[in-house]
Parts: sequence; C-alpha cells; structure tokens
Amino acid sequence: MQGKVALITGASSGIGRAVAVRLAGLGVRIALAARTEATLREVADEIQHDGGHALIVPTDVTEAEACRRAVERTVEQFGQLDILLCSAGVSMRAAFEQTSLEAIERVMRINFLGTLYPTWHAIPHVKTTRGSLVAVSSLVGRRGTPTYAVYGASKFAVQGLYESLRVELAEHGVHVGIVSPGHVATPLRQRVLGPDGQPWTTPPPVPFRVWPVERVVDRLVRLLQRRQAEALIPGFVKPMLGLEQFLGPWLGDWIIARQFRRHPLPPHDKERKPT
Ligand SMILES: NC(=O)c1ccc[n+]([C@@H]2O[C@H](COP(=O)([O-])OP(=O)(O)OC[C@H]3O[C@@H](n4cnc5c(N)ncnc54)[C@H](OP(=O)(O)O)[C@@H]3O)[C@@H](O)[C@H]2O)c1
Repeated sequence: MQGKVALITGASSGIGRAVAVRLAGLGVRIALAARTEATLREVADEIQHDGGHALIVPTDVTEAEACRRAVERTVEQFGQLDILLCSAGVSMRAAFEQTSLEAIERVMRINFLGTLYPTWHAIPHVKTTRGSLVAVSSLVGRRGTPTYAVYGASKFAVQGLYESLRVELAEHGVHVGIVSPGHVATPLRQRVLGPDGQPWTTPPPVPFRVWPVERVVDRLVRLLQRRQAEALIPGFVKPMLGLEQFLGPWLGDWIIARQFRRHPLPPHDKERKPT
C-alpha cells in the first residue's frame, strides 16, 4: 500500500471516511471527495496530523464533469492514481409503490451514476498503474429485499457494472472489487430516505444486526491487498446465497419477509392513490 494514491468518494463520512484514515495510516496518499468541503477538511486535517498526505476535492458525484475534475486533480497533485474507491451513496427504505419517481431517480443518480462517472474517468489511470477499482455496494444489491426495491436496484446496477468491468479490465491488470455490507453503524443510518425522498424523521428499525464500521474497513483493506473480487459482510451470507442457488428463493424469502414484518416501516402519511 505504501506510496500508492487513492481517490475516495463519500470520504466525508462513514465507511469512506474510515477507509481514508486507515489507508493513509498504511502510507497511501488520499484524495478525499464528497460535497461537504468543511467535513473533508476535517478528515484531511486528521490524516495530516498523523503524518499522512491528503488532498480535498469537493465533488458532487452526480455530475460527470465534477468527477472528471476530481480524478484529474488527484493525478495532478500526486502524479498517479492506483485506487478508486466509490463509497458515496444514500440509503432509502420505502414501499416501492408509494415512492415518488423523483426520489427514485435521485437515488439511482447518486448510487449508480455516482459510481459510474468517477469509474469511467479513472479507468485510463488505473490501467496505467494496474491499480484497483472498488465499489461499496450492499447485501441488498445481491438479494431482493422488501422496502429496499429502489436502493437495492441501484446497488444491483453497481454490481452489474463492476462484475462486467472485472472481466473486461482483467487483461489490463486492473483489479475490480465489490464490497457488500449488511447494516453498518455509520451516520447513514440517521439519514435513510423515505418515499418522498426526504430522510425519515424517525429512521426505520433495522431488521438485522448492525455491524461496526471497523469490520467493513478491515474487510475492504484485505480485499484491496489481496486483489479480491468480492467481500460480503458478514461473511456467512456467502454460503447462504450459494445454498439459495440450489434450493430456490423460497426459504430466503420466508426468512426475510418474517424479519421485515417484525420490524415494519413507520406509517407514512401520503398513500398514493390509483390514477
Ligand atoms: N451504513 C450502512 O448500513 C451501509 C450498508 C450497506 C452499504 N452501504 C453503502 O456504503 C456506502 C457508504 O455509506 P456510509 O454508511 O458510509 O454513509 P454515510 O456515512 O452517510 O456517508 C455517505 C457519504 O456519501 C457522500 N455523498 C452523498 N451524496 C453524495 C453526492 N451526491 N456526491 C458526493 N458525495 C456524496 C456523503 O458526503 P456529502 O454529504 O458531504 O456529499 C458521505 O461522505 C454507501 O454507498 C452506502 O450505500 C452502507
């Protein structure tokens, strides 16, 4: 890791921030991207205080041109790009039929296009360094889950993009990895969007265990060091998905539906009427 250069989106908070600090401690020079400049500055100060190198590149990942500038600025400053980590994202929980189309489009723009744009601009650089492209997806990007139709679809899209790139870029020596966590204890949990695209005033209860962010950081760093294709957190989900290939979806559907019935969404006042 020593001497490498990473551009991290979503670096102002949660997983992106924690990975930035960890990688900087391993000697990686970090470009920090997100929209909130003041928070990026805090992360950069923390890294520099500990002797690391950090650059802030305020970026809205839904703008392709801003993503191009973030990549170019990173290479101008540090001379190369070895790792792109796409962690910027928003979560949504809502019944699909009650979700506004504007809110759906916004989630797709941030989570899917917000991964695709920086990736597209980074590819020529990571081909030169034979580096890594890593996306933070989600377990709901691997398995259909009620109330996560839109968020899950955005992450299935990321999964499809990155799986294809893994094969497409292998001959250029580029490592492509996807990290898919379950619920993680980050500020995202307080800003989960509802069906109108606004954060729930009381965040919905989580149907499964919430994992500490350090668990994701450890696994993500291991994926980078070993150039692995995939990391599921917790790891026991992988054999469960394998088993489902044999059995079909009925058992998984039953377990998930039961868990979600026990932890229902808060009522939402705007029922959508048939048009
Ligand atoms: N926490 C979980 O339970 C969980 C579980 C599975 C997967 N994930 C995924 O993990 C990733 C990181 O989530 P987290 O838990 O670390 O969330 P978080 O603490 O809320 O951080 C999200 C980051 O994304 C940035 N962001 C949001 N919209 C952006 C935009 N338009 N342009 C640029 N940056 C933007 C935010 O910064 P600004 O607001 O400053 O722009 C922030 O830095 C996300 O992709 C999420 O879907 C999280």
